[in-house]
Amino acid sequence: MSQGLITVSYIGATILFILSLGGLSNPETARRGNLFGIIGMTLAVLATLLSSRLSGASNLVIILVAMAIGGSVGVFAAIRVKMTQMPELVALMHSLVGLAAVLVGYANYIDPSSHLTGAEKTIHEMEIYIGVLIGAVTFSGSVIAFGKLAGRISGKPLTLPGRHQFNFGLLIVTVMLGKVFLNASTIGAGMTPLLLMTLLALVFGVHMVMAIGGADMPVVVSMLNSYSGWAAAATGFMLSNDLLIVVGALVGSSGAILSYIMCRAMNRKFLSVIGGGFGTDGGSTTSSAAAPAGEVVAVTALETAELLREAKNVIIVPGYGMAVAQAQHTVFEITKLLRSKNINVRFAIHPVAGRMPGHMNVLLAEAKVPYDIVMEMDEINDDFPTTDVTMVIGANDIVNPSAMEDPNSPIAGMPVLEVWKSETSIVMKRSMASGYAGVDNPLFYKENNRMLFGDAKKMLDEVLTHLRA
Ligand code: TAP
Repeated sequence: MSQGLITVSYIGATILFILSLGGLSNPETARRGNLFGIIGMTLAVLATLLSSRLSGASNLVIILVAMAIGGSVGVFAAIRVKMTQMPELVALMHSLVGLAAVLVGYANYIDPSSHLTGAEKTIHEMEIYIGVLIGAVTFSGSVIAFGKLAGRISGKPLTLPGRHQFNFGLLIVTVMLGKVFLNASTIGAGMTPLLLMTLLALVFGVHMVMAIGGADMPVVVSMLNSYSGWAAAATGFMLSNDLLIVVGALVGSSGAILSYIMCRAMNRKFLSVIGGGFGTDGGSTTSSAAAPAGEVVAVTALETAELLREAKNVIIVPGYGMAVAQAQHTVFEITKLLRSKNINVRFAIHPVAGRMPGHMNVLLAEAKVPYDIVMEMDEINDDFPTTDVTMVIGANDIVNPSAMEDPNSPIAGMPVLEVWKSETSIVMKRSMASGYAGVDNPLFYKENNRMLFGDAKKMLDEVLTHLRA
């Protein structure tokens, strides 16, 4: 394939990726966006495979075998993964991008066919050093994020004494090692600083994510998404592949924008997130000053159905528990039935509900809930005082009043859905257990709150049966 044709294919793929990102920003155009992404990636892979640098027959065979193995693992993982495990899978994928950057960096460094000299050699080695650095941080950070999201590592922040100084020390040593690496006259001499830096970057990645408390994980997920983009861009520089640089930069910058949006949603500072080790100064995840006390009022599915039937305005707040119970289809059946009785039903979506950005939107779209009744937090938060019944389905942290009322709470300052301002709120969950952030929720004890205990799908099925009766 001629170089000109490859360049045209790469430009075509880049445009398709940009259209894909544009499409993915809205649920109504997300399918089309996904399709653009698939076509763009197919074009990019084909053009790369057919490029003159890879067209040696033995190279192609190796690459095709590797693609078949990797592709099969990917398809197997994607088919097997449950919707609730998606965030973990995404974290694992990010770690692989980081690992790839590290491996490409080492391969590039020891590549015997590279005969660069002078400034070109220095620039190439800087690309390698920075690429391996970003890759290693992304790799180890994403592995820890996977562990935290999967519940294999405690969500509690690890707050080592002097951790900021420790991070700063790591940065200084990394810069010094970089100088030694660039001045090394042989590959053997450069390998030691490169290996040491990789080790420090791995430690930094682990430390950065371990220091982050449960409720701040959404920012970490989007931040690692961004880091993985920059790792891919760094790989592009090392391999002199323009498309990889552009795609990496697209992922890196869109991930950074998502991190910014998440920071705003969590009321955290963007810069402290980029530096890592944030979100732990606001409180402790043990007991909070406003530890709730008192009795909760439990209701039955029948009582819930009666409350709903008598309401004029209903808001439904879905959370992670709705995803676990896969209750979205029943939720929509109830919504249709209530709307047929002229009851105004809307959904309130918190930006960090569930375990990944847009988690609730995806589930509701899957159940075919119309987009025009699915509202963002900012659009609907002022409407709770005029709402008769708010149904909280498997949500906890995102409706926790202590975020507003208790300055010592670990989630203090995080904007939440103010469901307690509605006439009656009904919280559906299986027990009195806390949510992801591990914080008690005083909402459960409020006078106007009712608890409907049980699996969300099972309880909503019962509510639906009573509503139909
Ligand atoms: P959570 O605060 O985690 O609360 C979910 C609740 O659902 C739990 O208290 C649980 O209580 C209940 N539940 C679980 N399975 C259920 C089932 N089968 N039926 C009924 N209820 C069930 O969720 P949230 O309110 O959506 O808040 C999200 C949290 O995750 C935030 O802290 C956020 O920071 C964090 N997080 C978000 C993201 C993103 S990007 N969205 C990423 C990582 C972390 P029971 O066990 O008593 O049933």
